[in-house]
Amino acid sequence: MNHAALQTAIEHSVARIHALAPGRTPKLALVLGSGWDAVADLVEDAVDIEYAELPAFPVLGVAGHAGSLRLGRIGLGAQAREVALLRGRQHAYESGDAAGMKGAIRSLAALGCTALLLTNAAGSLAAEMAPGSLMLISDHLNIVQRTPLHGEPGAGRFIDMVGAYDPALREQAAAAAAQAGVVLHQGVYAWVLGPQFETPAEIRMLRLLGAQAVGMSTVPETILARHAGLRVLGLSLLTNMGAGLSTETLSHAHTLHTAQASAATAARLLAAIVPALQL
Ligand code: HPA
Repeated sequence: MNHAALQTAIEHSVARIHALAPGRTPKLALVLGSGWDAVADLVEDAVDIEYAELPAFPVLGVAGHAGSLRLGRIGLGAQAREVALLRGRQHAYESGDAAGMKGAIRSLAALGCTALLLTNAAGSLAAEMAPGSLMLISDHLNIVQRTPLHGEPGAGRFIDMVGAYDPALREQAAAAAAQAGVVLHQGVYAWVLGPQFETPAEIRMLRLLGAQAVGMSTVPETILARHAGLRVLGLSLLTNMGAGLSTETLSHAHTLHTAQASAATAARLLAAIVPALQL
C-alpha cells in the first residue's frame, strides 16, 4: 500500500471504529501476544471489531491469534480505564515485511490513543527468569536491523530511540506489579526475525550483547509507535529458556502451551498495571 492509500485506509478504519463503537475514546491501546489473550476477558462493555472490517489492519496467518479489535474498559469504578485491545499481530517473519502493523498503529493514534502497551512471548536468556516469568522491557536490540519506516518521507523518520520504552510508564508499571505481588523482572529484548528459533551460538551471542530475552515481534511496533508519537510500554512472558540453555526442544506449540499455563498471572499483572498508568 502506498502512502496515500494507507492514509485513506487509516481514515476509513477510524470512521468504521467510530461507527461500530460510538463514543469510545481509549487513550491506551494494547497488543496481546501469545499467552496474553486472557486479558481480553478482563474487559467490560466489550465491543469487538474484526480486523477484516478495518482496511488498515493486518490479515493474520498464525494459529493462536484471533485478529480482532476489542474496545472497552479494564478496572473498576473510578479506576476503570478505556482500552483498545489488538488481539493478534502480523509478524515480520510471515512476509519479511516489518511494517505489517503500520496501519493498525497509526489508526490507534488517529483514534486518540497516546500510549501503546506491547506484550509478547519470548525466550529467556537469564537463569533467574525461568519459564513462566514476566519481564518489563527496558530497551531493545534491533539485531535484525530492519525497520517498518522504509519509504517514510520527511525528517520525522529520524526518530530518537532513547527512552523508547517510556521511563515514567515503566516506573508506574513496576510499582503496580510490586503492589499486586507479581514478580516483574526488567531487561533488554532482542528482536530476531524468525520464524526459526535460534541456534545455541546465537543465544550465546545475544547474551554477550546484553539481552535478557529474545523474540520475534514487538520491536517494529515500538518503532512505529514512537514514529506516531505514542508512548510505549513492553511486557514479555518468558515461555522457555533460549536454545541450548535447557534440554527442552523449542516449538511454537511449546510456546503456546507454556503461555497458556501462565495466562492467569499475565492477566493479573495487566489488571494491576492498566489502571495505574498515568496517561
Ligand atoms: N526465541 C525466539 N522467539 C521466541 C522464543 C525463543 O526462544 N520463545 C518465544 N518466542
